[in-house]
Amino acid sequence: MTKIFFQQDINSFEQWLIAQPYSQIILLADANTNGFCVPILKQQIAIFKSCHLIVIPQGETNKRLEVVELIWERLIAFEANRNSLLVNVGGGVVSDMGGFAASVFKRGIDYINIPTTLLAQVDASLGGKTGIDWHGFKNIIGCFRHPKAIFIQPDFLHTLDNQILRSGIAEMIKHILISSDVAWQEIKKFQAINFFNPNLIEGSLLFKKSIVVKDEMDNGIRQILNFGHSLGHAIESNSLKTDSPLLHGEAIMLGMEIELKLSERIFQLDRQVLIDFMVLRQKLFPNLNFDFSWKNLKQFLQQDKKNTLGFNMSLLSEVGDCRTNVNVAESLLISILNQYET
Ligand SMILES: NC(=O)c1ccc[n+]([C@@H]2O[C@H](COP(=O)([O-])OP(=O)(O)OC[C@H]3O[C@@H](n4cnc5c(N)ncnc54)[C@H](O)[C@@H]3O)[C@@H](O)[C@H]2O)c1
Repeated sequence: MTKIFFQQDINSFEQWLIAQPYSQIILLADANTNGFCVPILKQQIAIFKSCHLIVIPQGETNKRLEVVELIWERLIAFEANRNSLLVNVGGGVVSDMGGFAASVFKRGIDYINIPTTLLAQVDASLGGKTGIDWHGFKNIIGCFRHPKAIFIQPDFLHTLDNQILRSGIAEMIKHILISSDVAWQEIKKFQAINFFNPNLIEGSLLFKKSIVVKDEMDNGIRQILNFGHSLGHAIESNSLKTDSPLLHGEAIMLGMEIELKLSERIFQLDRQVLIDFMVLRQKLFPNLNFDFSWKNLKQFLQQDKKNTLGFNMSLLSEVGDCRTNVNVAESLLISILNQYET
């Protein structure tokens, strides 16, 4: 499984890299991380100084096949072979897309992730889910291939735009809701959240790891990590068609809100959880514009990878107890979404 190095382990990370038998190392960054993070990494880690670099356009709208092709073209130009290592420096878009590009290039080369957003440090960098959006559907093309290592450096978060930083908290809140009522009682106060706290980041990431090691291929318990994502991905996909797309974390907050409502109806989840969640959501993301109409969301929900028959979701029976493969009736979904119609 993936080796995890934190900021304080930088020397071990460098030693580990030097000890690997790679023929060459190629860095992949987007336009922002090339400016903010690559220069720091080159200063910190000597082996990165002379590496080739691939720079791709930033953002979710560029998580697409044409950009993966660009990565493959550059890999060929740099004469990458089966012993090359791709180092993804960026948020979840770079790690998902770089991981996918690496997973099929010459039938698969190794890659590592150096996540530079909160969302990627607590979630996207680990677990081996790689992929791209295609024909408007989120993450619909992709495969499982684990990074050989990840290196978490919370200092990178200081150059993040505030909205992007906040969006990263969504996956942390998800980890808390599905794992621990004690942590939920703490985080719901919001004032207590320090986005740069290395202990919070480490705790959240290690929780994800503890689930992934039990079910790498997402056939069982790992599906609890999809809480909030059935609706969240549909809302995000739908918003990507508009002029003001939501960030991934923003869409996941909205997805969790609806899935908490479903949890209340199906499992009688304590109403106080939903009330506290909505207060937190309003504080963190007060000005979200979103479209909850069934007509627009249905086509995306139907493509959810968890569906077998009908709509299958991961819902909470209580905080810390997430049930997977819960079949949700279309009529119930419509009645909850209708509450948002103005
Ligand atoms: N594979 C998984 O398990 C998994 C899990 C959760 C989310 N995801 C995916 O992650 C993606 C969202 O990731 P994200 O929120 O990190 O988005 P992102 O990668 O688009 O990064 C957000 C923005 O921040 C910029 N940026 C990144 N690091 C920076 C830094 N240190 N300083 C300044 N700017 C910086 C980027 O250029 C981009 O504009 C989605 O595509 C989602 O599907 C994957």
